[in-house]
Amino acid sequence: MEFSIKTLSPEKAKTGCVVVGVYQGAAGSAQEKELTAPARRVDQASRGALRAALRDLPGKAGSTLLLRLPGIAAERVLLVRLGERREFAERAYRDAVGAAARALKDLGAKEAALFLVDLKVGTRALGWNVRHAVLGMREALYRFDQLKTQKKAPAPVLAHVVLPLTANPQLRQALAEGVATADGSALARTLGNLPPNICTPAYLADEAKKLARQYKMRIEVLERSDMQKLGMGALLAVAGASHQPPKFIVLRYGGGAKGRKPLVLVGKGITFDTGGISLKPAADMDEMKFDMSGAGSVLGALRALAGMKAPVNVVGIVPTCENMPGGGATRPGDIVTTMSGQTVEILNTDAEGRLILCDALTYAARFDPAAVVDIATLTGACVVALGNVASGLFANDQKLADELRDAADDAWDRVWQMPLWEDYQEALRTNFADMANVGSRAGGAITAACFLARFTRKLRWAHLDVAGTAWKSGREKGSTARPVPLLVRFALRHAGWK
Ligand code: BES
Ligand code: MN
Ligand code: ZN
Repeated sequence: MEFSIKTLSPEKAKTGCVVVGVYQGAAGSAQEKELTAPARRVDQASRGALRAALRDLPGKAGSTLLLRLPGIAAERVLLVRLGERREFAERAYRDAVGAAARALKDLGAKEAALFLVDLKVGTRALGWNVRHAVLGMREALYRFDQLKTQKKAPAPVLAHVVLPLTANPQLRQALAEGVATADGSALARTLGNLPPNICTPAYLADEAKKLARQYKMRIEVLERSDMQKLGMGALLAVAGASHQPPKFIVLRYGGGAKGRKPLVLVGKGITFDTGGISLKPAADMDEMKFDMSGAGSVLGALRALAGMKAPVNVVGIVPTCENMPGGGATRPGDIVTTMSGQTVEILNTDAEGRLILCDALTYAARFDPAAVVDIATLTGACVVALGNVASGLFANDQKLADELRDAADDAWDRVWQMPLWEDYQEALRTNFADMANVGSRAGGAITAACFLARFTRKLRWAHLDVAGTAWKSGREKGSTARPVPLLVRFALRHAGWK
């Protein structure tokens, strides 16, 4: 699906379909107020035919109605119900764009003009609308059917979408960012959705190598023996029982000025989390294939930034392995020495994410980074705290936390900051080593972050717990690709983009 920006009028555009929005009339309000400006123009050009058809458009936001109207150059007109004008905001805009994409796909349109793109969305600038038009449409049309033998009839693809605006450099840049972010998100989504017998540590390493080749990035994949030499005792303890060898992926994109300190992104890459000897219950355990979502988001963000030739230096680090029970597995009570030299008593083998991350964070220091951000489906406790809306944000530097929060809001990939106070460190005390890998149940997302904080004292560091946001369960089960949009926005703002 290609996107372009072009000045068009809704009544004269010669295209397969023009998409226009209709607000839901507030009770008692004049119908006049329902029409968006493009809808009004289509109504005038068609001598009231749009308005006459409105009674067939359900009042529910996201409803659509396809029309052929006289006096309109486009073959068809798609009406999209928007909800009330007063309440129209980010969520409603993304929903409307998604609804339009699905309706266009169902009708088999090859080409369309999206006259939703200049709707007023709160206080957002037009560039925001452009980015989110692309992200919303691409998300709605994403499919993962590569492992179904009976594919749905290959719908004639929506090949070209025009965003009817007057082009300028800012909007073109927003479009490029939207497309690159959608490409990176698609990669993260597919990696997340792939089953754990296919998406193994070696598979992730191969995907990273492919990216490196395609986008001319530097890559290094460390093997078990390299990790042993580096003293990554915590990571190796997690990988112990798996027949899949662990990998440590280092992918470097150098789009910024030489010598400018890089951002380092570290993604948790547990390709399947059984819990190890501290075995998880059977229910929903399949969802632990998504436990490499942090890794997927790092590869996705790098793909996006490289794809748009962003002027930043970014290092992506992905420690990846499986957490399995077995004869080589870590026992609760085992004590390991991390790459930092600190010792850890592993009281619960299901708290494995922090163990692979701590060695990766120690390794990250060698890049003398401007900032390090790790992304991990780290704790069920974070899901309890924040549900599926916000990712948990922790940082040892408030300015970095603010930058991430602002980028997240801009990307509409929101986060909520939680405390990292020293008071919580007490929970990790043990009689037998420098620290335990778990605290009590209370404040589980925070004590997990506190564990990581012990390995990042010399870094500007933030941690994103995406356990509640990286995938959806139930009927809609699948990867969300979060927080790729946040990471891309953050890196670009770091590079001085608006
Ligand atoms: N990958 C899980 C976290 C998780 C659980 C994410 C459920 C999403 C849904 C992580 O490795 C884990 O098992 N964490 C434990 C930590 C506990 C043992 C301290 C948890 O959250 O239960
Ligand atoms: Mn676990
Ligand atoms: Zn895990």
